Amino acid sequence: MLLMQLQRPRSQQCVVNGAPAVPRIVMAARLPQSRQTATLADALKVGSPGLALAWDGGIVVTNGTTRPFGIDTSVPTTARMYDYWLGGTDNFTADRVAAMAVSEVAPEARLIAVENRKFLRRAVRYLTAEAGVTQFLDIGTGLPTQGNVHQVAQAISPDARVVYVDNDPMVLAHSRALKTGGNTVVIEADLREPQAILDHADTRRLIDFSRPLAVLLVAVLHFISDDYDPPAIVATLRHAVPPGSYLVISHVTGDIRPETATRAAVHYKRVTPGATLRNRDEILRFFTGLDLIDPGLVQVPYWRPDDEPSEAGKVWILGGVGRKPGPQQ
Ligand SMILES: C[S@@+](CC[C@H](N)C(=O)[O-])C[C@H]1O[C@@H](n2cnc3c(N)ncnc32)[C@H](O)[C@@H]1O
Repeated sequence: MLLMQLQRPRSQQCVVNGAPAVPRIVMAARLPQSRQTATLADALKVGSPGLALAWDGGIVVTNGTTRPFGIDTSVPTTARMYDYWLGGTDNFTADRVAAMAVSEVAPEARLIAVENRKFLRRAVRYLTAEAGVTQFLDIGTGLPTQGNVHQVAQAISPDARVVYVDNDPMVLAHSRALKTGGNTVVIEADLREPQAILDHADTRRLIDFSRPLAVLLVAVLHFISDDYDPPAIVATLRHAVPPGSYLVISHVTGDIRPETATRAAVHYKRVTPGATLRNRDEILRFFTGLDLIDPGLVQVPYWRPDDEPSEAGKVWILGGVGRKPGPQQ
């Protein structure tokens, strides 16, 4: 194992616990490819402070057992890994390395991210254009990207209102810069405390709970482990909205490519708090009491596609839209 210090341009400087750091570098890139992943995953798991790994010309720095304060670019986050897969620029080397490690065991990871985002856009377009929804509560919104919810909705209905919710400080910072305006707001809250989201002053200010709205839980529920009773969380949200409201969910599943999905989940757990694969019945349970809009709960590329889906078979994330029955259309 080669240890060295490296001079890097300012843009690539690493931060450990909020302070610039010159890490020890382990040249993992010199190892055979199979060993690289093991070394990378082990290092991220063990996380000795100041340890860094060079990887495909990039560098990741772990900060050991210390807790990130504010925005710590050395610890991968699900939001920034997703941003990397979507081709965004709001990610750091630690996120890219972590995403690459997942992609190595599940090469379709990027495809899944891209197809999930397309599903979100199509669902919002359907809700605004065909269902007449003009209010959205987007929980686990992610970093701003092309075609954010308010952009898709307001292109059809300029008065559409969106409350964006996330618990990642970097998502909040970037979203406040790019997603706020007269009819949009970004709030810091945690899906594990749904009542706090519903009671938030900005939610109440922007959303009229006497009229139908859409609650978006897109690619976020799998980050809620069973310990937090996700069916109860979703039930709280379902009960809070009036008839005629909609619930949009996408969720990773082990039903389609079980071995690959399980390997990816194991890798994910090494670098993030982890993701929980749920089967079709468990995901359907989140829609209890709602009518599923055609075509139901399907692999996301098959949900009202614009074009014939090509690689849909590889996509192990299911998506659907449910409507709370009632008189309002
Ligand atoms: C994969 S991204 C999905 C972004 C967007 N919904 C989409 O599908 O394009 C997941 C997002 O959920 C957020 N998230 C994860 N756990 C959360 C929680 N407990 N409360 C709120 N947001 C959470 C992450 O910070 C991240 O921004």
